[in-house]
Amino acid sequence: MDLCIIGSGYVGLVSGACFAEVGHRVICVDNDIKKVKSLQAGHIPIYEPGLEDLVHRNVAAKRLRFTDSIEDGVDNSQVIFIAVPTPPQPDGSVDLSYIEKVAREIAGVLKPDAYRVVVDKSTVPVKTGEKVTDTIKRYNKGAAFDVVSNPEFLREGCAVDDLMKPDRIVIGSNSDQATALMKKVYEPFMAPVLVTDINSAELIKHAANSFLALKISYINAVSAICDASGADVEMVATGIGTDKRIGRNFLNAGLGYGGSCFPKDIAAFIHIADELGVPFTLLKEVQRINADQRTRFLNRVRKALWVLRDKRIAVWGLTFKPDTDDIRSSVAIDIVNDFIKEGAVVTAYDPKGMERARELKLIEGAKLVDSAMEAVEGAELLVLATEWPEFANADLAEVKSKMHTPMVFDGRNLFDPKTMTEMGFTYHSIGRPS
Ligand code: UGA
Repeated sequence: MDLCIIGSGYVGLVSGACFAEVGHRVICVDNDIKKVKSLQAGHIPIYEPGLEDLVHRNVAAKRLRFTDSIEDGVDNSQVIFIAVPTPPQPDGSVDLSYIEKVAREIAGVLKPDAYRVVVDKSTVPVKTGEKVTDTIKRYNKGAAFDVVSNPEFLREGCAVDDLMKPDRIVIGSNSDQATALMKKVYEPFMAPVLVTDINSAELIKHAANSFLALKISYINAVSAICDASGADVEMVATGIGTDKRIGRNFLNAGLGYGGSCFPKDIAAFIHIADELGVPFTLLKEVQRINADQRTRFLNRVRKALWVLRDKRIAVWGLTFKPDTDDIRSSVAIDIVNDFIKEGAVVTAYDPKGMERARELKLIEGAKLVDSAMEAVEGAELLVLATEWPEFANADLAEVKSKMHTPMVFDGRNLFDPKTMTEMGFTYHSIGRPS
């Protein structure tokens, strides 16, 4: 099929490359000319495992191309996906101006005799599909089109895998013609397809992300009780997670969730629920527990070091999770800034996140170094903030020999407490006995 994806960010680019990989002809449209030129020259603007190969292979096979022209994309595609940003606003609501602008631009180039399916892939509040439909109709009275909601469930760091082998495909559609075309798009993925109305599909996305965040906050709240009682949160998580009704995934205690999705989507869901007159107070508690997790961690560091001023602290990890270069709403970045505010001397290292941290000037007071070992040189404390495999495989004997005082605060429960203690580290983690 001929497909167009508007927006070449994390979602758009991965979706475009994967659709091309299964045999569709894909046009990726972006209004950032610099980005388009760079993609045309073979440069991938983000780090996502497997993506670069996928893009190069499909560009070479002439199934994938990049343009800044919406008209080119819409004229030459049966299905048009919208994958533009939906950033948060200070009150928790979602800024839908990019979606609205794209809807108007699509309306401007739709032809009356050429039926098109316009698919919303960006995460949006319930009822956005209705607004996109109204907007296109208002700006192009004769257009033949249907709007569909098709939320994505891709995790950064394994987005290619998540897209190629999805648990399910959700198609929110009020038109049989559009549903049939959408099923054809997804046929090669051989995954279960759930067809719903548009509002339900939009709600599924917010409800799914909120539920996953709730699981994380639940286990983090349990980790606080483990810390206070001497129980082990990993054992508790496995003990409850082996019950198939609960499941072990997303029960890893740590510094809390971050990233460009969970914090934003939970705030948005709370906001929508308030607007609809049915306050979702449970999710406010999820947010509170998440924030508390970082505060409790900081208090424990303060208790161990007494005064943070002038203390040399090494931080491993800046990205919001491993296998990505994304540092948006990263708890690791927040922690670095907490330390700097209290006068600590912070040296940080991340395998993929440092370029962006420098570019966006998010942790100006910290020294960014080129290796994990350089970061711990002379440090009085090592804080593990993101669980990159590189850190799991680090030579801990070397780490210890380089540190001034071998104290480790493991914010992601990456290391084994027994090994760490036997090696002579003063070791603290989340919800596990030291
Ligand atoms: C999340 C969802 O998992 C995807 O299904 C969804 O498509 C995506 O948001 C989106 O809305 O676009 P993502 O934000 O990429 O994906 O990453 P996750 O793997 O979900 O992790 C989010 C945060 O939760 C990270 O900070 C991670 O460290 C934290 N986390 C995750 C935990 O603290 N504990 C866990 O057990 C799992």
